[in-house]
Amino acid sequence: MSSNLTPPAPPLAFPPLDHTLLSARTVIRGFQPTDAEALYAEVVASREHIARWLPWAYEHTSVDYTRDLITRFQAEWQAGAATYGIFARQPDDSSGDQAGALLGGLGLHSRQPDVPSFEIGYWLAQSAEGHGYMTEAASALVEYALSALGAQRVEIRCNARNTRSAAVAQRLGFTQEALLHNDRRAHDGSLRDTLIFARWV
Ligand SMILES: CC(C)(COP(=O)(O)OP(=O)(O)OC[C@H]1O[C@@H](n2cnc3c(N)ncnc32)[C@H](O)[C@@H]1OP(=O)(O)O)[C@@H](O)C(=O)NCCC(=O)NCCS
Repeated sequence: MSSNLTPPAPPLAFPPLDHTLLSARTVIRGFQPTDAEALYAEVVASREHIARWLPWAYEHTSVDYTRDLITRFQAEWQAGAATYGIFARQPDDSSGDQAGALLGGLGLHSRQPDVPSFEIGYWLAQSAEGHGYMTEAASALVEYALSALGAQRVEIRCNARNTRSAAVAQRLGFTQEALLHNDRRAHDGSLRDTLIFARWV
């Protein structure tokens, strides 16, 4: 018997592990083990900024932890949870790699494979905030989901107090569908309300 707790199967169309998206100023691609030092350094430098809303930032206790996590991301990708890094786009080097400094991360999670629908999540290093990078990168991923993956619905959920996250959803053209009162506990133990935004075709 299936349960609601069973992770959804990946939808029929899901990006390959080596998937790369380009926007004007960013390169969006899956984290690789060679990104471990950069990811660890950015999370440490922005720990409080990220952890205020995403407590996983406290879990990055060493580069080895971060490297193991990236290996887990790669395994989870096959199961319908893609975790991308967002990198500053730089001119092609001799290897053709345009990914420069790490700016943040973006997740694309399958929610209902038969629809298909997805949820996206995001974070930026504190130093990368306020330049429009997230709206630009998330827009590329949402358009990809709606066109190439045939998504009928893309969802964003955030703490109702997280005004910067809600503003990204609004800039992406998402509609606020719901405000869930006392939906979860925040990491400090307080009750939090959750906003649900969506775009659909
Ligand atoms: C949520 C988060 C990604 C939003 O970052 P952000 O920098 O506000 O969002 P964007 O990258 O889209 O940038 C928009 C800002 O850049 C400004 N900006 C500057 N140049 C811009 C450009 N070329 N294009 C668009 N916006 C630009 C905008 O005016 C806006 O600033 P404002 O809010 O002060 O008006 C970031 O606050 C974060 O990582 N927070 C911690 C983790 C988190 O909360 N994640 C979400 C959990 S649900």
